Amino acid sequence: MSPVSTDDIRKAYLDFFKKEDHAVIPGASLIPENDPTVLFTTAGMHPLVPYLLGETHPAGKRLTDVQRCIRTQDIDEVGDASHLTFFEMLGNWSLGDYFKEGAITMSFRFLTEVLQIPVDMLAVTCFEGDKDAPKDEESAAIWEKAGIPRERIGFLPKSKNWWGPAGQTGPCGPDTEMFYWVGNGKPQGNPASHEDEWLEIWNDVFMQYNKTADGTFEPLKQQNVDTGMGLERVAAVLQGKDNVYETDRMKPILDRVMEMADHRDERHLRIIVDHLKAATFIIADGITPSNVDQGYILRRLIRRAIRSARQLKIEHDGTLTPAIAEAVIEQYGQTYPFLQERRQAIIEALKREEQQFGKTLKEGMKQFERAAAKAGKQMDGTTVFHLYDTYGFPLELTKELAQEQGLTVDEKGFAKKFEAHQVLSRAGAEAKFKGGLQDQGSQTTKLHTATHLLNAALRKVLGDHVFQKGSNITAERLRFDFSHPDKMTPEQVQEVEKIVNDAIAADLPVAYHVTTVDGAKAEGAIGVFDARYGAEVKVYVVGDEKKGVFSKEICGGPHVARTGMLGSLKILKEESSSAGVRRIKAVLKGSTEEIAVAQEE
Ligand code: ALA
Repeated sequence: MSPVSTDDIRKAYLDFFKKEDHAVIPGASLIPENDPTVLFTTAGMHPLVPYLLGETHPAGKRLTDVQRCIRTQDIDEVGDASHLTFFEMLGNWSLGDYFKEGAITMSFRFLTEVLQIPVDMLAVTCFEGDKDAPKDEESAAIWEKAGIPRERIGFLPKSKNWWGPAGQTGPCGPDTEMFYWVGNGKPQGNPASHEDEWLEIWNDVFMQYNKTADGTFEPLKQQNVDTGMGLERVAAVLQGKDNVYETDRMKPILDRVMEMADHRDERHLRIIVDHLKAATFIIADGITPSNVDQGYILRRLIRRAIRSARQLKIEHDGTLTPAIAEAVIEQYGQTYPFLQERRQAIIEALKREEQQFGKTLKEGMKQFERAAAKAGKQMDGTTVFHLYDTYGFPLELTKELAQEQGLTVDEKGFAKKFEAHQVLSRAGAEAKFKGGLQDQGSQTTKLHTATHLLNAALRKVLGDHVFQKGSNITAERLRFDFSHPDKMTPEQVQEVEKIVNDAIAADLPVAYHVTTVDGAKAEGAIGVFDARYGAEVKVYVVGDEKKGVFSKEICGGPHVARTGMLGSLKILKEESSSAGVRRIKAVLKGSTEEIAVAQEE
């Protein structure tokens, strides 16, 4: 009998690879231990990066595990049939041991012999080749030899068939992905020709490159294999379900939500299941809701779930989220005993957050009533966006409430505001880390511009040996590391602060132009030249050539359009970061809520 239940698939996977001489290692925490560049563990390889780079793993060269993962990049797709924020990844690794032949034949055997998936329901893709690595004919040939017909093998570019690095640098390489037919009728073509009808279930990555900070791919010491199979998707396939929420371990959670819901909106029901399952596991790994880093993502997940609950008229006075967490613990507590051990903490954290959000929503209702009283016939887009942004009122909610009062809402106006906000978020998100959904609103943009002012002021006060060594911005504060041998004196700190605040008071313009790295150097722009730039770079200028340039820096942006939007800078701390590197933490006070974004000159 082939395994069908989620628990059996997990076990069958580990058993299979154990027989193939892999050591079964425990999955790691959702919170990466030694990688500040991402908020969450996003793949099974993540905790194994040092070993993929050449360190010796104590358990050997062949490893296998089940890794809990969080991915927030796909959060807008959550609610469809197959995208999840939290998922379990089954993985096997070769650390300089077997390579393409070994990986592909084992994958094929597991799929067809252990899971007993008929070969004609499978298709694969391979890397089509580019300047960094050749077309992967080798993998295609191995697949063909194993029994996948040529027409089921598609070739795709780097955007699809290349995996990693998990952070900004690190091990990566071309991959070959395995798909299951989910289209109507008989299987057709392959994922290159019929993308939407093939569901990705497994990925074998051939990690033979290390992506360095300047964007080049250097060969690794050893040829590694990193694979990842989506447990929930495979469960759906084997259980004959067209979506992951109907599988054996997920369905009881969905049922619990449905018991509470007044009506059935599939997407909202699924969002509640997905987000609260993710939240349960994140809390179990030691995070509580807050306004920074992982805590902030957690908060957003919980609040998004509650918003969906509102749409379904589910009570949320502090009882909803604990009830769903209980269902999650019931389903996963056996496999993950720490869920049971931390049950109390999970329930309490969720309850508190739900109640707190309830208060925010109440505040929002007051704002809504006030706005409604003033609105005449229609509520304007700015007000609707304010309700959305500050009080977490989705457009649908505001529309419903408005309707009850015989009002319409300016949806176009809202959409415009929303879009401006989205553009900002996206630009910011690109500049920051991939692993977690960061708050990249106006606050971080302002702090980002403040960082440029700070950098310039430090150079004026301390000298040209000052260079940026690191920067980390949250919605609350900036943190800036720079080269300087000594502790700054209080007078120097004060002077730097004053220079920045004078630049803010002068309300200097901020704009950028695009040039080459050499062009940027020639015009005296500062930047971390060893790092991450392509052929063309953006140079952000604060001030102008006529009245004097205050700062000129290579940077991806975004920035505010004028320094006056920043309010004032307060340096909270100047301390040592590491040998020869100092660290400043600073906040902005009294900055404007709405900002304009710096444009091209
Ligand atoms: N690390 C690879 C992935 O996440 C296996 O798809």
